[in-house]
Amino acid sequence: MGFAKLERDAWSDPAVASVYAELFPTMVRFTVPALLDGVHLGPGTRLLDLACGPGTVTREAHARGAAVTGVDLSRAMLLRARTITLGVRDWVAGRSEKLPFRDGKFEAVVSNFGLLHFSDPRRAIAEAFRVLAPGGRVALTIWGANAIGLRLIPEVLESLHLAPRLPPAPGFFAFAETGALRRAFEESGFDSPSERTVSGSAEIGSPEEYWRMFLEGSARTRAGLLALATEDRERVRAGVFERLSEFQAGRGVRLPVTAVLGTARRSATSSERERT
Ligand SMILES: C[S@@+](CC[C@H](N)C(=O)[O-])C[C@H]1O[C@@H](n2cnc3c(N)ncnc32)[C@H](O)[C@@H]1O
Repeated sequence: MGFAKLERDAWSDPAVASVYAELFPTMVRFTVPALLDGVHLGPGTRLLDLACGPGTVTREAHARGAAVTGVDLSRAMLLRARTITLGVRDWVAGRSEKLPFRDGKFEAVVSNFGLLHFSDPRRAIAEAFRVLAPGGRVALTIWGANAIGLRLIPEVLESLHLAPRLPPAPGFFAFAETGALRRAFEESGFDSPSERTVSGSAEIGSPEEYWRMFLEGSARTRAGLLALATEDRERVRAGVFERLSEFQAGRGVRLPVTAVLGTARRSATSSERERT
C-alpha cells in the first residue's frame, strides 16, 4: 500500500474522523489566528481551507465574515465539519494535488497542518497558486521540529528500537527546516515568502486521551502503531505514559506545541505562464 492510500483509507474511516474531530482540535487550534491574519482575512474574503478536516479553521474564518470553502479528500471528515460548523455550506470533496476549482477562484488559501499528509506537497502548493487570484495570499502551517506533542511517540519508538514498516512518504517534519517552505513557495511562483514560528500548548484530558488521539484518530502514527506486535505496542504505550508524566497539569496533560507558519503572495501581475 502506498502513502496516498494509507492517508485516504485512514481519514475516510468514519471512526478515525470522529476521534480526530473529538480529540485533536486542542493540538491544532493554536495556529488559527496566525493563519487567518497571515492571509489578511477580512469580511467577505473568498477563502479556501485546504485539507479542512472537521473545520477548525473554516469555522473561525466563517465567524470573521469570510466566504469560506472547505476542501478535504475525506467525506467522513466533511460530514463532521458540516455537523460542527453550521452556516458554512461550501464543503467540497477533493484532493489538494488536483483541486476541483477554476483558476483564480479564491483571494486566500490556508492549510492547517495539511502539507505533511500530502503525497506530493509541492504539487499542492502549485495548485494553491493556480486557484488564487493575482494578489491573493497563502498561509500554511506545519509542525515545528521541536513540537513535543508530535515528537513524543516517534521518540519513544526510537528509544525502544522499534521502526514500524510504513510506505515511503515525505518526512513528517520535511518542511520544518528553516527556508524549506520559503523555497517551496518560490518554486511555485509565489512572491514575498516568509516563515515564522508559532507556539502554543495543548490541553489534553488524560494520558489515555492522548494515546487514543493517535491510536484511533491519526493516519501515519496510527498505521505505525497498528503495525506493531501487541506486546510492543504495550511497551510504547507505557513509554508514552511515562514521558507524559513530565507534562502533568492537574488531572490532565499540557503539552507544548510549535508550528512553522509560512505565508506568501501571488503577485498582482503573475500568470500561469510566468512559472513555466
Ligand atoms: C491532520 S488533518 C488536518 C485537518 C485540519 N486542517 C485541522 O486543522 O484540523 C489532515 C486532513 O487532511 C486531509 N487530507 C489528507 N490528504 C489529503 C489530500 N491529498 N487532499 C486533501 N485532503 C487531504 C485528511 O482527510 C484530513 O482531514
